[in-house]
Amino acid sequence: MHVTHLSLVDFRNYARADVGLQPGAVLFVGRNGQGKTNLVEAIAYAGSAASHRVSNDQTLIRFGAESSVVRARVQHDDRVIVIEIELNRASPNRAQVNRSPVRLRELPRYFASVIFAPEDLSLVRGDPGVRRAFLDTLVVQRAPRFAGVISDYERVVRQRNSLLKSARASRLPSESLTTLDVWDERLVSLGTELIMARANLVDALRPHVARAYSAVAGDDHVTRMALRLSVDADLDDDNMTPALPEQVDAADLIAERFRRRLTERRRAELDRAVTLVGPHRDDLVLELNGLPARGYASHGESWSYALALKLASAEVLRAESVAGDPVLILDDVFAELDEGRRERLADAVGGFEQVLITAAVGADVPERLAATRITISAGTVVEGAT
Ligand SMILES: Nc1ncnc2c1ncn2[C@@H]1O[C@H](COP(=O)(O)OP(=O)(O)O)[C@@H](O)[C@H]1O
Ligand SMILES: [Mg+2]
Repeated sequence: MHVTHLSLVDFRNYARADVGLQPGAVLFVGRNGQGKTNLVEAIAYAGSAASHRVSNDQTLIRFGAESSVVRARVQHDDRVIVIEIELNRASPNRAQVNRSPVRLRELPRYFASVIFAPEDLSLVRGDPGVRRAFLDTLVVQRAPRFAGVISDYERVVRQRNSLLKSARASRLPSESLTTLDVWDERLVSLGTELIMARANLVDALRPHVARAYSAVAGDDHVTRMALRLSVDADLDDDNMTPALPEQVDAADLIAERFRRRLTERRRAELDRAVTLVGPHRDDLVLELNGLPARGYASHGESWSYALALKLASAEVLRAESVAGDPVLILDDVFAELDEGRRERLADAVGGFEQVLITAAVGADVPERLAATRITISAGTVVEGAT
């Protein structure tokens, strides 16, 4: 699929913008701070109602304005749809597809993009939560109904936590503990569903990550990745011992381990009043040449790994989606790369239906990706708009 038109009202530093886009590679150039990232952020937002930069939507609304509109026209084969999202400071955001209201979490059904930006270095170097969010975004893109599973699961964790808290406070926990058992079953069933979806995703990503890593890095380094599950071991955020069960067992085995682990951890959970077992405590372990990439990989290696994860995401969606390729967005990527890597990256992304690229210096981007240029200056699209 590809975006044919984007219009913005009061989004970030754009008062108004209207830009027509072609399939293939489109390069947005402009000095730093002009609005290149803001523009591609808006495009990614159209398929997720989430920003890759901030968790708080308020910062997306132009300073001084009360609401924003992001409207994207998206085409796949002969089918055109219009996605419109209204962001409001004082009331909930709203979305429409072809002028009919849809829930925000339904948006991944209509449009998919994969964005790679310098912040994504944290996929490799950051806390487990970054990797969980990466996996879950993709889980939802592959199967949008998981948006519901994940939000139900998160609600169960919150309610279970407050129950643990009141059990601790009351000192007469028997009644709460019976209720806890009910929540445990919900936790196990939704949590297992999420673990299985992530495991299945990691299996799908694995060959693409290996290929993309060597394509980008130009090295035959060995990448390995696997989930580390809190149903099997405690996960302290600083504990980097690699535990790599490449195969995650079938759902009922996971559920069984989940229940057992909850029993083992019951005391600790009551002491700390937090849920210590479940996919919200898991990690995706990334290894490079037998060592955890987090903590061991060099800057360049970490960068290639993060990029490989994103390219692999795009490949997985492309292979599975009935709506065609996701739109691939490369934000400020080329400046970081040497000549060889630039060329290899251009090869790796050249086949996608639409690739949106931002760069401060146009010359950093290989010629074949730079034929269509749009200049961005101070929150306006200066040329190339149709
Ligand atoms: N909500 C907002 N309202 C107004 N300006 C904003 C808002 N959010 C970001 N900006 C401005 O947008 C600019 C950064 O735009 P960005 O797209 O990140 O630049 P670049 O072209 O370097 O990618 C900054 O000047 C920032 O102050
Ligand atoms: Mg930028």
